[in-house]
Amino acid sequence: MKRHVIQAIGFVFAGALISPLPAQTFTKDVAPIFQKHCQSCHHEGTVAPMSLITYKDSRPWARAIKERVLMRDMPPWHLDKSVGIRRYKNDILLNDGEIDIIVKWVGGGAHEGPPADMTKPQTFASQAEWVIGKRDRRVTTNDFTM
Ligand code: HEC
Repeated sequence: MKRHVIQAIGFVFAGALISPLPAQTFTKDVAPIFQKHCQSCHHEGTVAPMSLITYKDSRPWARAIKERVLMRDMPPWHLDKSVGIRRYKNDILLNDGEIDIIVKWVGGGAHEGPPADMTKPQTFASQAEWVIGKRDRRVTTNDFTM
């Protein structure tokens, strides 16, 4: 009886070695990161070149995404974090763990994962939606030509 159990565990273990399931998937691991750090710019009708809302939108860009997050070039954040104020309320930078998840997802074949894992999609009111939150003050100017 005991031997069967040990054998069964052996098979499960060998199976895991032979055909590992993708550890990181879009629906479970990557979509929540994109929602938090990328989609405010990367959705239809914005200045960003492509949408990163769905798996279908994102998959063709997997390699470029890996490159840009490794270079810490995306999301853009032009403040020097080594001087002066280092913590901002609206800081959208990825932490090392999040970069690691994205890099491993791409390296593992950029799989979609079960659609049921997908978190509820965000909606965007308009392309000009203010991403920082409730504004304190609105300043108007005369019209000018650029
Ligand atoms: C503040 C707005 C903003 C955010 C947030 C943002 N991006 Fe971008 N992204 C842009 C813009 C604008 C461009 C086009 C200019 C450029 O390539 O730098 C771009 C370009 C890119 C490109 C290059 C596309 C190409 O043409 O090769 C990739 C890949 C990318 N973003 C991935 C991401 C990922 C992944 C995130 C989140 C982790 C993210 N971006 C967050 C604005 C943003």
